[in-house]
Amino acid sequence: MANTPICDTVIKEQCRKLGINNIGKSTIREIVGLVNCIEKETGEKFVRMEMGVPSLKPPKVGTEAEIKALNDGVAAIYPMVDGVPELKKEASRFVKNFIGVDISPECCIPTVGSMQGGYATFLTCSNLDPQKDTALFIDPGFPVQKQQFNVMGHKYESFDVYDYRGEKLRDKLESYLSKGNINSIIYSNPNNPSWICFTDDELKIIAEVADKYDAIVIEDLAYFRMDFRDDTYHPGFPPYQASVANYTDNYILMISGSKAFSYAGQRVAVVAISDKVFHRSYPNLQKRFGRDQFGATFVMRIIYALSSGVCHSAQYGLAAMLKAANDGTFNFIKDIEEYGKRAEKMKKLFVDAGFNIVYDKDIDKDLADGFYFTITYKDWTGDKLLEELLHYGISAITLDNTGSKKYGLRACVSQITPDKMELLEKRLEIYKQNH
Ligand SMILES: Cc1ncc(COP(=O)(O)O)c(C=O)c1O
Repeated sequence: MANTPICDTVIKEQCRKLGINNIGKSTIREIVGLVNCIEKETGEKFVRMEMGVPSLKPPKVGTEAEIKALNDGVAAIYPMVDGVPELKKEASRFVKNFIGVDISPECCIPTVGSMQGGYATFLTCSNLDPQKDTALFIDPGFPVQKQQFNVMGHKYESFDVYDYRGEKLRDKLESYLSKGNINSIIYSNPNNPSWICFTDDELKIIAEVADKYDAIVIEDLAYFRMDFRDDTYHPGFPPYQASVANYTDNYILMISGSKAFSYAGQRVAVVAISDKVFHRSYPNLQKRFGRDQFGATFVMRIIYALSSGVCHSAQYGLAAMLKAANDGTFNFIKDIEEYGKRAEKMKKLFVDAGFNIVYDKDIDKDLADGFYFTITYKDWTGDKLLEELLHYGISAITLDNTGSKKYGLRACVSQITPDKMELLEKRLEIYKQNH
């Protein structure tokens, strides 16, 4: 048996120091902390697949607009809570150009990342109607969103969509929504962690069930336009980002600057609320927050209380990138296609080393190569596999943490720049020899 790059004692010792009893149940940030400590202790660099940090440069059109805004003095001025008009206008154009739907600038609200966008959306939706006190996640999903529910003390239910693709999704959704307690349906598309992409038929089913039971669909588009199987950049023309917004008026879209625009550090996103939901009145919102309209509550009660708006210059940065994308002068998709290329190579390396891809199909189509993929080894649990891979200097998160019922890990490709592929290959070779 060949020596592993990281020895068991170091892993155990660092887990003990950080108070980690079960690696498989750790949050993404806890794994990040653990790997940082092991790297420091051993001097060995990890192949880091645990966190979706964009490794591409932020677009100049964004950073230059921010610099200009700062030179113009915005740092001294509180931004309006509902966002700067330039960003609202460009966000509205963006959803028209790249999804094909109409949302007024008024209903496009900047948030401190989709993290805050989600928190504010979940909080508002959880208080629309006392009878509807539960959100429904179509899992697997982004683990920290459940943490947000735990922090808020609001309820959620979830199911793993693996066995319920296509028409089967309808009955599964019905089984939850017919109970009458569901206020919203939440999912990401493309999906973090599995990278499944719902088909238009599935999005239509979600829309129809949501309409039937008057629930709001919260569509998290953190990986906007990152299904690279489609022909890509044609502002104003199809193919568009697939979206439930084409099939219902009961929706909220979360569009993050972090991944599609490599702007994670600036913590800026837009929540685009359908005009219908934005203007709708809910007596319980009046009771709970003192405003009855969804949009007014979201902006003037929730976002105001959480952060009083979004960093002024970051809004100008995102506005400039969206404007350039809308005007046809910035093909943002071309840059991020790099992630698809990395995924293709990495999946092959893992499969050659004896791993299997867990979520591998969109019904009858092979899954796209994108920001994440999922792996399993033999019949091992995610905990066991993660612990083992740490010995080979490879980090990831368990699917357990994402609401998946499948064994395995989520692998994120973003930090595996082309120069790190060789290291991954070498480590997987040792893994293969040893198993
Ligand atoms: C599905 C999903 N939603 C939301 C977010 C958070 O996005 P942001 O960086 O805009 O807060 C992420 C980030 O990884 C994500 O994967």
